Amino acid sequence: MRIQIINGPNLNLLGVREPEVYGKRAWEDYLKELRGRYPKVRIDYFQSNLEGEIINMIQEVGFDRDGIVLNAGAYTHTSVAILDALKSITTPTVEVHISNVSQREDFRRKSIISPGCLGFIGGFGLDSYRLAIEALIDRASDQE
Ligand code: DQA
Repeated sequence: MRIQIINGPNLNLLGVREPEVYGKRAWEDYLKELRGRYPKVRIDYFQSNLEGEIINMIQEVGFDRDGIVLNAGAYTHTSVAILDALKSITTPTVEVHISNVSQREDFRRKSIISPGCLGFIGGFGLDSYRLAIEALIDRASDQE
């Protein structure tokens, strides 16, 4: 099984950025733990602050992977282009958020990209990524 994690803008600053919202843990450390937990799953990782690069990656992995775990950061709330990319591909995508976006500012309540995703997981800190991977693994085994 092969899963692609895509992190959007400012998520390269995890551990440093607003630790009261996103936690103090460094991403690389968490990713190592995640990979150790699922030795049979190849977990690839990509981060970009640029919308077009995120779209290029969605297109690149969108037809032959078993799943995409996407935290589009603030583009979640603005990007019709990312929504269109998600609707163009066949790989199931789980939308992930570290924080509970429903409890925050009004503008974070609306996800433009949700209609292009299989489901939505948010509010569990970095554990949201693991929960998304679990959902993709379960879905793949249901389809076997
Ligand atoms: C986020 C929530 C977004 O509203 C915000 O712009 C982010 C991170 C989250 O993981 O909680 O950059 O996607």
